[in-house]
This record gives sequence, C-alpha cells and structure tokens, in this order.
Amino acid sequence: MKLLKPSTFGIMALAAVMYACGDGGGDSARKETTSSIPQNEPKKAASFEEQHGENPDYVKGLALIKDSDCPSCHMAERKIVGPSYAEVAERYENNEENINLLASRVIKGAVGEWGDVPMPAHPGLSEEDARQMIKYVLLLRR
Ligand code: HEC
Repeated sequence: MKLLKPSTFGIMALAAVMYACGDGGGDSARKETTSSIPQNEPKKAASFEEQHGENPDYVKGLALIKDSDCPSCHMAERKIVGPSYAEVAERYENNEENINLLASRVIKGAVGEWGDVPMPAHPGLSEEDARQMIKYVLLLRR
C-alpha cells in the first residue's frame, strides 16, 4: 500500500538566489532578467481528473461506475467497504490480462483478495461495461 510518493523536490526549497555578478562594471541590462520561477511553490500532485480528464477511458468508465452500485463500496482514493481504486491500480498493472481478470471478478463477485468481505456478483453487468469500468480504475495509479 504505497500511496505516498517520495518527494522529489524538497531539496529545491532552499535554492539560493543566484546573484552572481560576473565582471564588475556598470553594465546593467544583463541582470534585469527577473526570474518568475516560483521558488517555494508547494507542488500539489495533480488530481486524477486533471491527469486523465481528457482520456475517453477515464470519462466513460467513470460514468458507468457512477451509474452503478460501485460508489457505495468504492472510492477513488479512500478504502471504504472495498479497496480504493487507486489501491487496485497500484496492485494490478494496466494491461489486457488484468482488465479481463478484474472485469470478470466484478461480474462474478470476489472475495479473499483484499480481505474477508466479499464483493457481490454483478450478473446484470455486460462484459464490455465491466471492462470499461476497469480501464478507468487502472488509470488511477499514482
Ligand atoms: C457491496 C460492496 C461492493 C460493491 C457494490 C462493489 N464492490 Fe468492488 N469490491 C468490494 C470488496 C469488499 C472487494 C474486495 C474483495 C476481495 O477481497 O477479494 C472489492 C474488490 C473490487 C476490485 C478488486 C478485485 C480484485 O480481485 O482485486 C475491483 C476492481 C472492484 N471491486 C470494482 C468494483 C466495481 C467496478 C463495482 C461496480 C460495478 C464494484 N466493485 C462494486 C465491494 C464492493
């Protein structure tokens, strides 16, 4: 369950202001390049919506999930009854094999992969829709 990504930019926080003034002398123009690079901006991880909002797999899968009963047991980034989608995406690589595997588990029901609480079967769900939902789920990888 590695939801935290090691920070890669902490070191930059103390970056010194470059004030090196090469040759002495009255030349002014060169130093006028006031940098507008933010120095201490806390870099917020982009939301999944920001990352994938344009991806049709994301949009279609999310719409199907919202229309189904999934949200009563799953959230994108928080475990409720079932694992969060982000946890699922962390565990299963996004490939055809896993899309098929997970789609069939959603249709047939599952237990034992994440704990003792079973996920009920969804016999009314088409394989196509289940696969589309999983394509969305597997995008949610940090
Ligand atoms: C009544 C609660 C409930 C509902 C509704 C539900 N789930 Fe689950 N889901 C669970 C639980 C609990 C697990 C963990 C099962 C296990 O440990 O094997 C799970 C597991 C999963 C997994 C991971 C399966 C694996 O083998 O690792 C996926 C993907 C998933 N659910 C997607 C969905 C989708 C999509 C829907 C809607 C169609 C849905 N779930 C509806 C409770 C639910």
